[in-house]
Amino acid sequence: MKGLILAGGFGTRLRPLTYTGAKQLIPVANKPIIFYGIETLVNIGIKKIGVVVGDTKEEVMRTLGNGERWKINIEYIPQEAPLGLAHAIKIAKEFLGTEPFIMYLGDNILKDDLRSLVDQFEENHPNASILLTEVDNPQEFGVAVIDEKGCVRKLIEKPKEPPSNLALVGIYLFDKEIFKAIDKIKPSWRNELEITDAIQWLLDNGYKVESQTVKGWWKDTGKPEDIIEANLLILQDIDSDNQGKIVDSTVNGQVRVAKGAIVDKSTIRGPAIIGENTKITRAYIGPFSSIGDNVVIENSEVECSVIMDGATICNLEKRIDRSILGRNVVINQISESPRTHKFILGDQSYVQIIK
Ligand code: TTP
Repeated sequence: MKGLILAGGFGTRLRPLTYTGAKQLIPVANKPIIFYGIETLVNIGIKKIGVVVGDTKEEVMRTLGNGERWKINIEYIPQEAPLGLAHAIKIAKEFLGTEPFIMYLGDNILKDDLRSLVDQFEENHPNASILLTEVDNPQEFGVAVIDEKGCVRKLIEKPKEPPSNLALVGIYLFDKEIFKAIDKIKPSWRNELEITDAIQWLLDNGYKVESQTVKGWWKDTGKPEDIIEANLLILQDIDSDNQGKIVDSTVNGQVRVAKGAIVDKSTIRGPAIIGENTKITRAYIGPFSSIGDNVVIENSEVECSVIMDGATICNLEKRIDRSILGRNVVINQISESPRTHKFILGDQSYVQIIK
């Protein structure tokens, strides 16, 4: 079975972070989001993965390479524009061939492994198998109506009056009939070939679509708060490891400190992760924080945040909480005159200041 990972799209909801990079490469627990998807596929024995790429293809290709790091083979499939999930499958037809395949949205992270979904698919030979999860806000998702055997009866995109609370997770298994379905559907009002329309076509034409419900957590990292949440969920399960230098400091709970990092006169409360060559001095790093490589945090407090490589945070009186700082961002509080705020912020940056 081959894998297809979608790493195109615009990522508009994650601006300004996505002005300068692919959303699938945003780090969660200091690892690009898309790595979690690749590892999920590698763990079920997939050896060939096609990655659909858009405007950010250079950066994605540079980061993933040819798959050597996971001992697999990665091929890239350029998509001219984000014309929909079903469009991504359509353009990958040559790569996918006639074998069943698994499609994984590159900005999704799943705790469960996919073994039982694949086993069920190989045993029952449906034409498609989808993953579902219970959500509190089904109005915001594609929602499925299923019968008592788990067979899908109907899919509805963002229903005003949801018939169930079972939302579609961004992971799907298909056999070759999906290409037939995609050829028959038309672009939606947003000019995308929708995967829900293709699956609905399978249902309307007598093909078999099964489902499985996710047991562990699942996160679609579409919005900034999802990144914070995904970071929290991943850090929950990390083990401690110290390859750096900890001097005159208190470290509690699960904390990973990478090589070259120095923690001096500071308190770190895990779960937290500190990247390579980062310097934490007279600072407090609270639970669920991921601090990237070459970061400087001095005289400041950070909690439940994602601080990317090269950032600097100095002398802040107030704690930074549930925040995301992009690469090389500098936040510095000064005491000398003029005591004014000074900002150099990209489009759609967000700053909240407290008195
Ligand atoms: P979405 O989150 O639906 O779309 P997006 O990434 O463009 O984000 P936004 O709505 O904030 O603008 O996409 C889910 C995943 O699928 C994501 O990893 C991008 C990828 N994708 C493609 O590769 N090609 C496509 O045509 C689309 C629609 C998405």
